Amino acid sequence: MSATPRRVEHQQTDKGYVPVYTTDVVEQPWDSYTPADHHVWAQLFSRQRKLLVGRASDEFLRAQDAMGMSQDAIPRFEDLNEVLRAATGWELIGVEGLLPELTFFEHLAHRRFPVTWWIRKEEQLDYLAEPDLFHDLFGHVPLLMNPVFADYMEAYGRGGVKAHGIGPEALVHLTRLYWYTVEFGLIRQGDDGLRIYGSGIVSSSGESVHCLESDAPNRIGFDLERIMRTRYRIDTYQKTYFVIGSFEQLMQATEPDFAPIYGTLAKQESLPAGAVLDTDRVHHRGTGEGWAQDGDV
Ligand code: PHE
Ligand code: FE
Repeated sequence: MSATPRRVEHQQTDKGYVPVYTTDVVEQPWDSYTPADHHVWAQLFSRQRKLLVGRASDEFLRAQDAMGMSQDAIPRFEDLNEVLRAATGWELIGVEGLLPELTFFEHLAHRRFPVTWWIRKEEQLDYLAEPDLFHDLFGHVPLLMNPVFADYMEAYGRGGVKAHGIGPEALVHLTRLYWYTVEFGLIRQGDDGLRIYGSGIVSSSGESVHCLESDAPNRIGFDLERIMRTRYRIDTYQKTYFVIGSFEQLMQATEPDFAPIYGTLAKQESLPAGAVLDTDRVHHRGTGEGWAQDGDV
């Protein structure tokens, strides 16, 4: 614990622009945030909150309020941790950048969520290649207040440690589950239709609108093996979003032992990110009010 924090970002090398990994856990150097850093937080926070009312799951928005996040200043991990520990026993730990997979899984398995201490620069408001404080804190942390989602994240961490022991292919398949749920998931919110819960979406102004309102992407009902077979893009909006009915459904669907599933998938071809299969339950955009959907999907 508590090395002096560094800001660890992608680096340009002779192999191109590559991610750099770090394992240190650091104290959030709150006093070192500049007025410019707080201003970046404020701009991103207020812009996203405006966009997300009626688009993000109500659960997400309520949790953000309950944690006391606001545009006024970059939150202190200490303050958030008091609320979070009491709610679900999770805690935030400060990190310098991307973690190696196994380190990340082990933190999750122990209900520790790694949050990058540094925030993007003003010139990066719309895009940066790796997670920063805004993505991690604004995007990932609120749903850790939800008891079912909190359990899912811990189960995912344990599943990650297991998949890591099975081999690289298992990890590829498991990572797609994280991508299409935790990062880019949509949820059906009763009669209100589709809402966002994925942190990669809620921390992006463009994708917050695109994922619900564009005709371009597929919106397909959650199906574990289907997700694990589906490749994804990291540098553009998603071509496909998977829709869960509830966090309980997500939890139940991921309860079985994945080892035999990894075995089956190892013999199958992966699917392109934009594929649509006959067996997919496609969610259509409603034409009427709000985001109501046709039919029972
Ligand atoms: N059931 C999974 C396994 O056996 C563990 C897991 C749960 C993984 C939830 C992801 C999400 O590997
Ligand atoms: Fe993320």
